Amino acid sequence: MADIQVNSLRRTFGTFVAVENIDFHIRDGEFVFFLGPSGCGKTTTLRMIAGLLMPSSGRIDIGGRNVTYLKPRDRNVGMVFQSNVLYHHLSVYENLAYPLKVLGMSRAQVNAKVEEVAKLLQIQDVLKRSTERLSAGQAQRVAIGRMLVRDADVFLMDEPISHLDAKLRAHMRVELRHLQKELNRTTVFVSHDQLEAMSMADRIAVINEGQVLQFAPPQEIFDRPATEFVAGFVGEPHMNILDVHLDGTKATGDGFAVAVDANWLSRNRIRSGHWRLGVRPEHISIHDAPAQGRFPARLFAVETMGAENLFSFKIGGMDFKVRATTQDSDQYLDAVDEVLYLRASPERVYLFDLSSGKTLAQASATEVKEGLS
Ligand SMILES: Nc1ncnc2c1ncn2[C@@H]1O[C@H](COP(=O)(O)OP(=O)(O)OP(=O)(O)O)[C@@H](O)[C@H]1O
Ligand SMILES: [Mg+2]
Repeated sequence: MADIQVNSLRRTFGTFVAVENIDFHIRDGEFVFFLGPSGCGKTTTLRMIAGLLMPSSGRIDIGGRNVTYLKPRDRNVGMVFQSNVLYHHLSVYENLAYPLKVLGMSRAQVNAKVEEVAKLLQIQDVLKRSTERLSAGQAQRVAIGRMLVRDADVFLMDEPISHLDAKLRAHMRVELRHLQKELNRTTVFVSHDQLEAMSMADRIAVINEGQVLQFAPPQEIFDRPATEFVAGFVGEPHMNILDVHLDGTKATGDGFAVAVDANWLSRNRIRSGHWRLGVRPEHISIHDAPAQGRFPARLFAVETMGAENLFSFKIGGMDFKVRATTQDSDQYLDAVDEVLYLRASPERVYLFDLSSGKTLAQASATEVKEGLS
């Protein structure tokens, strides 16, 4: 049982700052994701928690104990990485038993523990098999099993399923989420896949350029992103984000103009000026005639995706996405190159600061009655 407290953690490589004075607290039993683009510092942060890399400065406590400069083996953490090296000359059973034998456990204890973990991961049938004869998914489960057998206080996983095929990855997501809840063990999982993080995490730390931009539950990250970067990183397809000039209640961009609710602006203390306006593809409706609050856009392409259609419009030379159910939008499948009329859901529009990227205003159903009109 252990929480993880990180204070002013920083790591540089020469003059390059990989992790910049980050602070966070991970609660006991929590399933936390480090989510961010390649090179943002996820692995570096995880390796410092594991003890595989020393911080340049700052402090790490696990279970109330200062472990900042302790060796990995003195922290009682279990780890699994993207590419795990199994002992290929050994069987699955021996791979799982090895870490326990090193700890000096009796044969009966080792047997019992290996059985328990194999059952949990559903690899009982392959225990006798050589690791060379495993599928990618089985091999990855053995690697996870090697972490689990050790009864560590904290589990650290660095993209452990990212190289599996899509179907197996979806399966492993559900399994790992279930397993984490069953074991109730503090777990940090590194990923650059926002769908993975959204579907598995209790809380997500969104990281960019060595900084934690937001640390919150998935739904909050999605509904109330702290910055434009977070807003654009989470959601599939991405939020549409455009430059606008706000004059009174009129927001004008390159190729479009919308009226914004005056109360919403005054409540959020937004003045006229240059801002960034964001709206998610699923919060825009398509119409075939102009009306107040609708703006014209030329349809560029349509992708059918089964239950939904994904429309790409061109606005001011920019790609602008709209996602709609087949029921609401099948009538526009043949409208490529035509001008249609779009309306953004008034309660779903965001404004971001042009220079800092901070979210200035986010509408919500309770806050805004009219919004764009
Ligand atoms: N040993 C090192 N020496 C020099 N630079 C390093 C070293 N390790 C990491 N870096 C740099 O620090 C930055 C963060 O690296 P890190 O591996 O933490 O990224 P990441 O978020 O895990 O990315 P990915 O999703 O690609 O795994 C990168 O720019 C990387 O090049
Ligand atoms: Mg990494």
